[in-house]
Amino acid sequence: MSFLAKVYDVELRNIMKKFQNNVVVQDFNLQVEQGEFVSFLGPSGCGKTTTLNMIAGFLEPDGGDLLIKGQRMNGVPPYKRELGMVFQTYSLFPHMTVAENIAYGLKLRKVNKAEMKERVDRVLSLVKLPNVADRYPKQLSGGQRQRIAIARALVIEPSLLLLDEPLSNLDAKLREELRDELKRLHHEIGVTTIFVTHDQEEALSLSDRIVVLNHGFVEQIGTPLEIYNEPASEFVHTFIGKTNRLEGEVVEVNGDRLTVRTNEGLLIHAAKQTRKFAPNQKVIAFVRPEKIQLSATESNEAENNVKGELQIASFLGSYTECEVKVGGNTLSVKVQKLIDKATEQEAAKGIVCYWKAEDVLIMPTERG
Ligand SMILES: Nc1ncnc2c1ncn2[C@@H]1O[C@H](COP(=O)(O)OP(=O)(O)OP(=O)(O)O)[C@@H](O)[C@H]1O
Ligand SMILES: [Mg+2]
Repeated sequence: MSFLAKVYDVELRNIMKKFQNNVVVQDFNLQVEQGEFVSFLGPSGCGKTTTLNMIAGFLEPDGGDLLIKGQRMNGVPPYKRELGMVFQTYSLFPHMTVAENIAYGLKLRKVNKAEMKERVDRVLSLVKLPNVADRYPKQLSGGQRQRIAIARALVIEPSLLLLDEPLSNLDAKLREELRDELKRLHHEIGVTTIFVTHDQEEALSLSDRIVVLNHGFVEQIGTPLEIYNEPASEFVHTFIGKTNRLEGEVVEVNGDRLTVRTNEGLLIHAAKQTRKFAPNQKVIAFVRPEKIQLSATESNEAENNVKGELQIASFLGSYTECEVKVGGNTLSVKVQKLIDKATEQEAAKGIVCYWKAEDVLIMPTERG
């Protein structure tokens, strides 16, 4: 390596892992900057934990190089990597108090008693649980236990924090609370963090960058906005939030604007596409439900105005989810306003769905 080469906190170069003859992680390349919060996002079995365990040193890669702060780590045992890890399942020692659990890593590092107490108290207040030091894990709630697991990972002041689905065993409200807490913690201490999740909201809200994984392959690496607005593949787009998927064919191209006719005969106008298309090309048009508006009359602001019939309106608190039948297609529409019974009955007879051409994403139909 040249002395000019940039040193990253974590670097994966062509990492590969197989179990028996089954390749589960392939061509994994990633550079994590100091202080960055990076998420691994993907469905069950896509290789998130396997990759995290290779970074931690619990598993050895079968190919490629793994670097931490510029040092090659292949073959280096976990305890020499100075990292904090939180496992998906609660991993506190049941026979030790909270304080003993947290102090465990400090004990191994032969930190003296006075400093140990000070550091344990400090991380307990950091995770907002200052008064539980003498309790046993079974005397804590699930969310509190996860916070103690995070405190235990932080107390050694790791240069790298690895979190494997730390919120997935919690109920919805607690998940959100702890998610905000993680965000605050990261702002406060700025430790480089790799966070594994299969929950797109968690990844979007917490991350500086997201790595989307599918079957052991990296589909895309990008900021939450890039992943959401400029998905590299259909997989990325459909994995991140709900979307309307309309198969069809290009009928007209004009620079970065184009018109698609769906297989059911609906004409869709799209603009600001980064990909290039040709007439007659088979494509898929995507429109997010929240980009579609409902109105009794056509809109001048939007290039796409289609008449349909409201079939279902489900009130979900902060928004209403609707299904509108438009010819042979059914559109999912998410609106902020409340739809009362009278409006619903009116809309069942006829309503206009409208959306902007730039809110349509066109992708080539994937073959093979
Ligand atoms: N020790 C092992 N031996 C054989 N196959 C394994 C082993 N560990 C994991 N695998 C396989 O490797 C693939 C990736 O597993 P991994 O645990 O990394 O998935 P994951 O993305 O963390 O999934 P989840 O979201 O369910 O935790 C899976 O197909 C899994 O069955
Ligand atoms: Mg896993």
